[in-house]
Amino acid sequence: MGSKSGLRPRTSVPMAYSEIAVLTVLPKVEEQIAKDRGLAEGGVGGKQLDCGLLAGRSSVGRGHGICNPYSLSMSELTEQFGDIDIYLFDQLLRGRIRPGMRILDAGCGGGRNLVYFRREGYDVWGVDEIPALAGWEQFRVAKVEKMPFPSADFDVVLSSAVLHFARSIAHFDAMLNEMWRVLKPGGLLFCRLASSIGMPHLAVGRTVLPDGSERFLVDAAMLLERTAALGGELEDPLKTTVVHEMRCMTTWVARKM
Ligand SMILES: C[S@@+](CC[C@H](N)C(=O)[O-])C[C@H]1O[C@@H](n2cnc3c(N)ncnc32)[C@H](O)[C@@H]1O
Repeated sequence: MGSKSGLRPRTSVPMAYSEIAVLTVLPKVEEQIAKDRGLAEGGVGGKQLDCGLLAGRSSVGRGHGICNPYSLSMSELTEQFGDIDIYLFDQLLRGRIRPGMRILDAGCGGGRNLVYFRREGYDVWGVDEIPALAGWEQFRVAKVEKMPFPSADFDVVLSSAVLHFARSIAHFDAMLNEMWRVLKPGGLLFCRLASSIGMPHLAVGRTVLPDGSERFLVDAAMLLERTAALGGELEDPLKTTVVHEMRCMTTWVARKM
């Protein structure tokens, strides 16, 4: 039974965690994500943390397939998908993240990328060193480099605007290796991270960007070398958004073979 817009019938989704806890930590997370906002470069909506998952405003039914995004108004689109990263949205539209899959968002922040998956009944987990989603039973406060999950536990691991906070190459590899450890063979690793691709005069490693922020930058050689060393294969060619003379954000999607 669909509405005239094609959106699913509106039913309320029960809050699975304490709104109070979320509100307590929300300002800190908002501040941190706002700082990194320019680096994320890719939300569908305009406001990264203004999502139904956080505020408990979900009003779309569960358990259906993806609706036709072309039939939705702007507000319905935001309601349906939250402020999901558009490159993650692309993976979803291409059928690589399917219902029933077990998904981990490693460094989930306020959970903007989890709105759709959680609503649709995916088995979703989130980890962050900041307790932004404290009270949600499938959230854990933990470092990405040491996560409380068994090996080969997830079909999909997401890392959206997290790896570029690495303090060093060793820290970058510790986070990457841990995400790979918890990924099942055949599973998908989706990363969005700052890079020097498109701005090759910037150094790999901790670098001050033209906008004044300091991030850990990778280049294509490093990502290709890590993909091969882990025994993975690129699911797509590396794709990079270049914000002219400011920064570059690369989408790295690898399959664990
Ligand atoms: C810019 S936010 C991105 C949040 C979310 N992935 C998104 O796309 O909206 C970066 C997040 O990574 C988390 N983070 C950074 N380094 C981390 C680490 N080593 N372990 C756990 N969380 C980390 C921060 O706490 C923050 O919530």
